[in-house]
Amino acid sequence: MTVTEPVQDPTQLAQQLAFEPRTQFCGEIAEHHLGQPITVNGWVSARRDLGGIIFIEVRDRSGLIQLVADPQKNAEVHDVLAALRSEDVISATGPVSKRPDDTINPKLATGSIEIYPTRVSVVSQAKTPPFLPENAHEVDESIRLKYRYLDLRSPQMQHNIQLRHKITNAARTYLDTQGFLEIETPILIKTTPEGARDYLVPSRVHPEHFFALPQSPQIYKQILMLSGMERYYQIARCFRDEDLRADRQPEFTQVDLEMAFVRQDDVIALTEGLLTTMFAQAGIEVATPFRRMCYAEAMGRYGSDKPDTRFGLELIDFSEVMKACGFKAFASVVQDGGVVKGLCLGGTENYSRKEYDDLIALAQKWGAKGLAYIVYTDEGLKSPITKFFNDDELAAIQQTASAKPGDTVFFVADAANTANKLLGRLRLHLAHKHKLIDTSQHHLLWVVNFPMFERGDNGALSPMHHPFTSPNIEQLDKLHAVPDEVTAQAYDIVYNGEEIGGGSIRIHNRELQQQIFELLGLSADDIQRKFGFLLDAFQYGVPPHGGLALGLDRIVAMLCNCPSIRDVIAFPKTNQAMCLMTQAPGKVDLEQLLELHVRTIAPPQTTPKSTDNR
Ligand code: AMO
Ligand code: AMP
Repeated sequence: MTVTEPVQDPTQLAQQLAFEPRTQFCGEIAEHHLGQPITVNGWVSARRDLGGIIFIEVRDRSGLIQLVADPQKNAEVHDVLAALRSEDVISATGPVSKRPDDTINPKLATGSIEIYPTRVSVVSQAKTPPFLPENAHEVDESIRLKYRYLDLRSPQMQHNIQLRHKITNAARTYLDTQGFLEIETPILIKTTPEGARDYLVPSRVHPEHFFALPQSPQIYKQILMLSGMERYYQIARCFRDEDLRADRQPEFTQVDLEMAFVRQDDVIALTEGLLTTMFAQAGIEVATPFRRMCYAEAMGRYGSDKPDTRFGLELIDFSEVMKACGFKAFASVVQDGGVVKGLCLGGTENYSRKEYDDLIALAQKWGAKGLAYIVYTDEGLKSPITKFFNDDELAAIQQTASAKPGDTVFFVADAANTANKLLGRLRLHLAHKHKLIDTSQHHLLWVVNFPMFERGDNGALSPMHHPFTSPNIEQLDKLHAVPDEVTAQAYDIVYNGEEIGGGSIRIHNRELQQQIFELLGLSADDIQRKFGFLLDAFQYGVPPHGGLALGLDRIVAMLCNCPSIRDVIAFPKTNQAMCLMTQAPGKVDLEQLLELHVRTIAPPQTTPKSTDNR
């Protein structure tokens, strides 16, 4: 083996490594430090050479401070500063002085002062970076994620990560004062169903057996209530293999909590206190109690289970007017148990035919059978469907919608749930198009009384929340006869139209839990295999309990005004569930697979379509 010669003189290297530690953070230097010698440590952010005098901005977590070197005063320091490059790490020592009045920078917290260093050392040199942290917002996100360490130096990301810390810390402190214990639950577990696919981890010790990563700590926190812990919380990492979007990551963080001997109102009141404290960290004051809205009202009026109430444009029900009208396509839908609902949008005086066609195409893309409309103008009505109605019917439509010239009324005829959801999406689309949302407002509301179940395409019942959620107990007699009508003791917390948390009162009765599993179509074997341990535990004294989990990433992203939760997670994944910095997931060695008793199967090749017409 050959030993390579050191490239740098060891004495020089030792000097460089023995840097002078900071006495102050850059952004915290102020006029009361005038005249005092100070040492700062940080990165070279900006460099200007004004006729021999060199100005350097040094950046650390707290902000920036300007260093100045005048070749007339200190040639040695001037030479060091002159050779500096962006993102070099330096240590600089010197007295703080006041800037001349005409060079004060009011945009900078330290803009009235500067340092004439007497000593500067380059602690670490930087290669020309692919982008400057200050310009990160102009760079493609894939480049930012590849060089996340540079991106995280940007003022925006520094702010986001610091606010995230403050919010998390405030949550911890609040829950501590409310008597909660922070308890860690395992990451290698059996499985906790929250409706997504599991991430699996093969066991080396137990061939052909797998751990799942928790989709949430749900089962453990319930067990902790059984164990007499009374109040649990955890800043918990959750793993869900699902389709990703701006507000969804494969691993994300919840402020997860559970309480014993409580009712729904207790969890709601506690959460309102918690959210008030978290929002205060971003300077947002919210009043309690928050508004509460039933699921049925949210769907009926806003077409969404996470209604954005910062603007009107509520759904209008025309079913009564339409049920016996001349337009058979609408009348028959109502007669068959469906609805005709719509929206009345103002400010459409200048709408072109193309704008209407685009909206129809959009609605059809979302699955609408059609999107009809009537335009109200000073000259009368314009519409492809007015010909189907008599004057009385047209008058009733206008009255129901309170439509006036300049308005357009849109209609969807379909099953209630489908029509509501379509119009809910259209409502949001139109609100953005017409800038109807007052973004200075902060609307927090609870959606309560969710249905217990929803039905999949095959008609099978699945839990709307999760299988441990308690039905409203006065409806237990309907559970088997009309399960679709049973509502749950479940609640979601919605902030400006985003679901930022959800929870429920849990089933604490073994027989009821067993019944729910059966209703969900689980066989006796499945129940035993997946949840046998829980049902066993339920034999030994279970306190009534309930809880909730807040989506920490979503809350922080909204409080930072970021469109994506990726901007508040230090090392997020892309929408393809990849880490661009480390290139995970990656291939592994065959030996590792053999050790784990795992064989991989390549996905089938998608063969290009044949153009052979023989
Ligand atoms: P739920 O599944 O509703 O409830 O999750 C709670 C909150 O977590 C956030 N969230 C996500 N955030 C980022 N990426 C994701 N993929 C993601 N999925 C969910 C949402 C959501 O409101 N165990 C139950 C809670 C309980 O019953 O106590 C649970 O996990 O903001
Ligand atoms: P048709 O009778 O199919 O030509 O439809 C006449 C108009 O009614 C067209 O503008 C369609 O887009 C609209 N329309 C048809 N079915 C529906 C529906 N289910 N909901 C809303 N509009 C519809």
